Amino acid sequence: MANIAEIKLDNKTYELPVVVGSEGEKAIDISTLRDLSGYITLDTGFKNTGSTQSAITFLDGENGILRYRGYPIEQLAEKSNFLEVSYLLIYGELPNKEQLASFISGVTHHTLIHEDMKKFYEGFPSKAHPMGVLASMIAAMSTFYPDVYKTEGDVDLTIQRLMAKCATVAAWSYKKSIGHPVMYPQNRLSYCANFLHMMFAQPTDDYHVNPKVADALDKLLILHADHEQNCSTSTVRVAGSSQANLYASISSGVSALWGPLHGGANQAVIEMLQTIRKEGGNIGEWVAKAKDKSSGFRLMGFGHRVYKNFDPRAKIIKKACDDVLQELGIKDPLLDIAKQLEEIALTDNYFIEKKLYPNVDFYSGILYRAIGIPTDMFTVMFAIGRMPGWIAQWKEMREGKEPIARPRQIYTGPVNRDYVLVEKRK
Ligand code: ACO
Repeated sequence: MANIAEIKLDNKTYELPVVVGSEGEKAIDISTLRDLSGYITLDTGFKNTGSTQSAITFLDGENGILRYRGYPIEQLAEKSNFLEVSYLLIYGELPNKEQLASFISGVTHHTLIHEDMKKFYEGFPSKAHPMGVLASMIAAMSTFYPDVYKTEGDVDLTIQRLMAKCATVAAWSYKKSIGHPVMYPQNRLSYCANFLHMMFAQPTDDYHVNPKVADALDKLLILHADHEQNCSTSTVRVAGSSQANLYASISSGVSALWGPLHGGANQAVIEMLQTIRKEGGNIGEWVAKAKDKSSGFRLMGFGHRVYKNFDPRAKIIKKACDDVLQELGIKDPLLDIAKQLEEIALTDNYFIEKKLYPNVDFYSGILYRAIGIPTDMFTVMFAIGRMPGWIAQWKEMREGKEPIARPRQIYTGPVNRDYVLVEKRK
């Protein structure tokens, strides 16, 4: 039978159901295996473990395909906008005109944060990493805007607050880090234009958002909006499975995103390109170093747990990068280094055999730099983009009434032994 898997253990055969997804992906449902046989499965890093069934994002890493709710990322990046894509991810369908207008209005009118929350910024050191600030401020939102889910509208309100306020919190953390007064949000502006305004406007002069820059930023946020069960998203679902509130769950996702092997890679890419340039720009040498395991160096922005082909987002960003640099008349030497690095790596056997391609972070940092976003804010930009995906995944998990996440383990420590009083220990 095609929908049954047989597993032979200790000379006994167990039948387990096979689950097939809408794109033909197959899984063996092992949830009863321990009860039946005493065995668990072991898969450190969840390399081959599905933690859930999800209808939000489809990713085919072998063929470089990414779709949100069935819509190809290329079409959404070209024709849609970040708030429409956010609605699609969170609510499952593209909104009609009224639904979109109401969602945009909700997100636009919740951008202010409680004045008392401003005081928190005074407590952070001026050099505080903005990811630490973002995670803390989002967790703190739960104390100012407790989410009491009595009606469906309560969840929607929390969603709109999170989407709106995370941009304000992020921009203000930058303003505080440079010792400038915070800029209040402007409801007449679009989501991205408003963010740029809060980042770069000053009370002392007129600041006009370049619409092409706002569009490029919007595209970047779309590309980051969801990516199925990655490290931060799974963290959101795991935290939320204890029925922790949405703010607390998202705050844990922000922390998980921070690391250089995940969202922190965009910052690490720029730092790597700067080092390569500073040390003479011998790209072949750096590629050789990346191939030498004993060096401890990896090409940041290369490789992906799931993509064993071009990350489709990297292709779109590379093009957007060229467009924005041209629009702003910027010539960034780091872009030249990145392109040469990509060219060498893509023709090198080590990278070909291991199927290591540039990922979303390889070019996004160059685009952020061109827009004027400081390096340590790059991962924050990723978090703003990922917000609707995290929310959608949290909502799906809660609405699906998923059980609390609680993996098992194989214990490898000492077996039972008796306690020895300190004076008798050797
Ligand atoms: N440079 C050089 N070698 C690499 C790289 C790299 N960037 N990435 C993987 N490899 C090698 C590994 O050494 C390993 O070699 P081996 O099989 O001989 O031991 C092989 O390729 C497989 O790598 P793993 O680390 O086992 O793959 P995994 O799926 O666990 O890790 C990861 C994926 C973390 C993304 C990895 O490719 C990496 O560290 N890349 C650089 C950091 C980065 O760009 N992260 C952003 C990912 S995208 C995102 O999160 C948004």
